[in-house]
Amino acid sequence: MIEKTLSIIKPDGVKKGVIGDIVKTFEENGLKVVAMKMIHMSKREAEGFYAVHKEKPFFQSLTDFMCSGPSVVQVLEGKNAIDKNREIMGATNPKDADPDTIRDKHGSSIEVNTVHGSDAPETAKTEIAYFFSDIETFS
Ligand code: CMP
Repeated sequence: MIEKTLSIIKPDGVKKGVIGDIVKTFEENGLKVVAMKMIHMSKREAEGFYAVHKEKPFFQSLTDFMCSGPSVVQVLEGKNAIDKNREIMGATNPKDADPDTIRDKHGSSIEVNTVHGSDAPETAKTEIAYFFSDIETFS
């Protein structure tokens, strides 16, 4: 099934200068970039985006990190894009990520893990709408 998913190259990925490497990995794996922009999230925007985690002990630290510098937000489209993107990213904790996944190559810790990807169709819809309007997304 052709799906769309939200991807974020987090501030550590932008600072390391690996935007191109990450986008190349998406494209080589059949994921098309159908929307893209660089944003510097405010604390409020980061808290809104990660609202499902607001009771977690890492919420403050995660939202501080997400507004520590610019990120690249993208919509990726392709066959089974949601699961495909999660496979390419690797496990949340870079220590557990399969070899050659993005988090294995570039991630530093469970928090500073370079990329975010939606985890399910409903989440993808909400997350895409959080950053992009319909006319900013192509196909
Ligand atoms: P992400 O895929 O963006 O979704 C939620 C984020 O919370 C996750 O990646 C990590 O960056 C962060 N996270 C998840 N679990 C932990 C944890 N135990 N400690 C710190 N950060 C975490």
